[in-house]
Amino acid sequence: MRTFLIIYVFIVVATVSILGFRGSTSKKPPLEIFPDMDRQARYKPQAENQFFADGRNDRPIPINSVARGNYHNQIEVFAEDFSDSYLGDTTYNIGKSSDGEFVQKIPIKASNELMQLGHLKYDIFCTTCHGAAGDGNGVVKQYGVLAATYHDDRLRDAEDGYLYDVISNGKGLMYGLKDRMSPKERWAVVLYMRALQTSQNAQASDLSAAQRLDLGF
Ligand code: HEC
Repeated sequence: MRTFLIIYVFIVVATVSILGFRGSTSKKPPLEIFPDMDRQARYKPQAENQFFADGRNDRPIPINSVARGNYHNQIEVFAEDFSDSYLGDTTYNIGKSSDGEFVQKIPIKASNELMQLGHLKYDIFCTTCHGAAGDGNGVVKQYGVLAATYHDDRLRDAEDGYLYDVISNGKGLMYGLKDRMSPKERWAVVLYMRALQTSQNAQASDLSAAQRLDLGF
């Protein structure tokens, strides 16, 4: 009898709850236990907005903002006369030739101005780890960052494209810096690294006779 009563009550409750509330609609908002930001007061992209004088939701980028991830100046890119002769040039942009090999030589003209740019960027982005002389003795060495020295045969013989690739994409513990430097700046750093390597590995025969005389040998 007891079992019968339990089953009877269960069937009644099940019938009422399944059939009883079928099809009843409600205008009340559903009960949300975790709303998960389903509804937000936000502006939709490219929509109208009367709050701003120009009627646009999207705000122009404030002057002097630094774009992350690409080196293009937004205002220039959208200017009518924009042209980038290097756009699509893989050698210039990724340091590899069309057959996927690292290029031997920097694909832009080396100049004193490019060297100065490389020096500036090297001081900003590399000295902390690699040291001013590129020997791996940066200030972070005492904290356990063992950055490579550039003064070994492997890196002396490495292609310019390889060094460019390390700067761009990083290697091992070193992070890539392509979102912080334009391709031109990265090539400039490669040029400056070559100067650093020469500074520690120069032969008397690299100098002109006049220069040698000047130095007394
Ligand atoms: C946060 C510290 C740090 C910074 C900043 C840094 N590096 Fe490095 N770099 C390293 C470390 C660590 C290694 C060794 C990576 C490995 O082999 O695991 C390394 C390795 C290298 C190598 C050798 C790659 C090889 O084949 O062994 C080159 C070249 C290099 N860095 C260039 C640069 C240049 C140029 C900059 C500045 C644009 C720079 N690095 C900035 C930490 C840094």
